[in-house]
Amino acid sequence: MKLLSLTTVSAFLLATASAAPHPSGPIAWDSAYEKAEAIVSKMSLEQKVGLATGKGWEKTLCVGNTFEATDPDFPSLCLQDSPIGIRFGDNVTAGVSAITAAATFDKDLLYRRGAYMGVEARGKGVNTLLGPCVDPMRAPKAGRAWEAFGEDPYLNGVGAAETVAGIQDQGVIATAKHFYGNNQELNRKNSSSDISVRAVHEIWTWPYARAVDAGVGSIMCSYNQLNGTWACEDEYALTTLLKGEYGFKGFVQSDWGAQMSGAKSANAGLDMTMPGDIVMGDGLSWWGANLTKMVKDGEVKEERVTDMATRIAAAYYKMRQDEGYPEIAVNSFNRTEAPYVNVQGDHAKIVRELGAAGLVLLSNKDNTLPLSKKIKSIAIVGSDAGPNPDGLNPANCADHGCDNGTLAMGWGSGTVDYPYLVTPKDGIAKRAGKKVDIKYTFEDWDLEKAAETAKDADVAFVFSNADAGEEYISVDGNVGDRNNLTLWHNGDNLIKAVADANENTVVVIHAVGPVLMPWIDHPNIKAVVWPGLPGQESGNSLADVLFGDVNPSGRLPYTIAKDESDYNTDHDPNFNVVYSENLNVGYKHFDAENIEPLFAFGHGLSYSTFKYDDIKVSTSKKEDNMAKVSAKITNTGKVDGHEVAQVYVGFPEGAGEPPRLLRGFERVFLKKGKSTSVSFSLSKMDLSIFDEDKNDWVVPDGEYTVYVGASSRDLRLNATFTLSK
Ligand code: NOJ
Repeated sequence: MKLLSLTTVSAFLLATASAAPHPSGPIAWDSAYEKAEAIVSKMSLEQKVGLATGKGWEKTLCVGNTFEATDPDFPSLCLQDSPIGIRFGDNVTAGVSAITAAATFDKDLLYRRGAYMGVEARGKGVNTLLGPCVDPMRAPKAGRAWEAFGEDPYLNGVGAAETVAGIQDQGVIATAKHFYGNNQELNRKNSSSDISVRAVHEIWTWPYARAVDAGVGSIMCSYNQLNGTWACEDEYALTTLLKGEYGFKGFVQSDWGAQMSGAKSANAGLDMTMPGDIVMGDGLSWWGANLTKMVKDGEVKEERVTDMATRIAAAYYKMRQDEGYPEIAVNSFNRTEAPYVNVQGDHAKIVRELGAAGLVLLSNKDNTLPLSKKIKSIAIVGSDAGPNPDGLNPANCADHGCDNGTLAMGWGSGTVDYPYLVTPKDGIAKRAGKKVDIKYTFEDWDLEKAAETAKDADVAFVFSNADAGEEYISVDGNVGDRNNLTLWHNGDNLIKAVADANENTVVVIHAVGPVLMPWIDHPNIKAVVWPGLPGQESGNSLADVLFGDVNPSGRLPYTIAKDESDYNTDHDPNFNVVYSENLNVGYKHFDAENIEPLFAFGHGLSYSTFKYDDIKVSTSKKEDNMAKVSAKITNTGKVDGHEVAQVYVGFPEGAGEPPRLLRGFERVFLKKGKSTSVSFSLSKMDLSIFDEDKNDWVVPDGEYTVYVGASSRDLRLNATFTLSK
């Protein structure tokens, strides 16, 4: 029999990923536990401790490695970043960030993104991929919000479930992180996220519960404290909530250096210390021999250590990693040569598709886009349209800790090195072809040159960006979180200069999150294009939409406010970061306070128009389908395209909920003139609130309103239904 190369296999798997899982995809937890219990029962205390302990920072090829056991044999597990692909890997794919994947509002694309990352992780011998990140965006300035799926817990929950399934169907353990309350970089290791029990359930851990439902193998506890207790030693968080209420069967690993105690964290429910040392690189450990001693001294019961090892082994067996696993081919700390393994396959195709599908067309006056075939000249202005002058993925800004050239991902551990990066200028020029005259400047501060370049073109594109990342790197004085919500590199002035010079100006912004748009009413700004963080295929995905090869359908996964003061959350310099907004996170606050956003959560235009009618609602007693909602959507425009229908639920009065909560979405393709019916099942979970007095989820009695529409503020249809016990 002819053996297929890994990349051929990957390409095949990817092509079929959305339809059929990897043939060696996960087995059920029960069967995995049987195998885990069998091997762990043969292990000595020291061996079990080894499974739960990392070898230390910069000691191994991966960012984390556990100790192996011999007789019985159990391998050292390789844990490797990141939520966007394989950090410190060569010949890998650097795709769209989660925030841009979220903007597709497309479950199948989210799954396929997870699947190709799973293929690459497996190919590189990574047992546990350190993603997805599923912490909803609280403060718009939060440095790492782009690593996750936006401001809404439901959207994060779908992002979590689809990504976990995609990764794990390839036999790789996924890690949902950072459990929980890790919503800003400012003082992340030295602050307490103080959150009500209700908001903990309904907002901040909701996506983790969905990851657990999807069978996630690992969850990472976070750096911060939770109501005054370190997250990695919080028994309520780890044992009562996660392993108890949510039924998590996998293992809890600490964030790197987030463990603050030996026995306390063990007894609270931590299962694995990462990277193993107390302070990264110090060679000391809370666990290892110390954990063995704690058991001997009676501070920690051996059963707890057995449980740690069993959970870790169960995740390994669940993903069928015992049936043969590739050797490690990442080399995080340049210790030795990693074997050459190219895992890219044809993943660039899905990255390009995701980039175009995640592009949000914010405004489009006079049908300026797609570009007319008559266009003869295009101006391109701004460093964000061009390459990094220092090189592709330059050594002088490791982990993308710089903002030079076009922005296609943020910075920090949640990154991947670019194998290449198609700049917007190159993508546009290639698609425009030789007959179109392209003039460009990448200078942000020379406003005269910007105006000169723009003035005679049929259309002038002006590019700008806003970057953010993890706090161990500071870029331009931004220590992870952004210092403000304004554009970088003179962006506002550059946009104004171009718009003053050309009456057909299109603004393109690559950003980690919302920015302020003081120029939005400029009469010459005809369109605002929001590609988010599109990864290596940036310029191609953009050109696909600008030239109309792809009809845009991306939707904002967060609210863009008119004014910074319209937001009710910010990164907080206090030790106690009090989540006083409670349930009113993101658009829910704007709805509750009746504040008009500049661009609403869920907003995004198409080159077509869609009509909604015929809403129908029925109820049943079935827990997975307590209310069924359907509506008819018709493509009333002149081009084929996707529409993202969104369902928001208004709870009965007295339930104490914000006015509307996202509880469903479907991205459907419709040829011009065609109609389809979309339907949504609202489960018991979708219609529940967390009752703090009962300490349980309850479905409130009373009248619910269900809205179907094109954004959180473009609600085309509504209907009511009543539920009672
Ligand atoms: C710290 C980050 O918070 C986490 O997301 C990452 O996985 C680890 N470092 C390992 O790099």
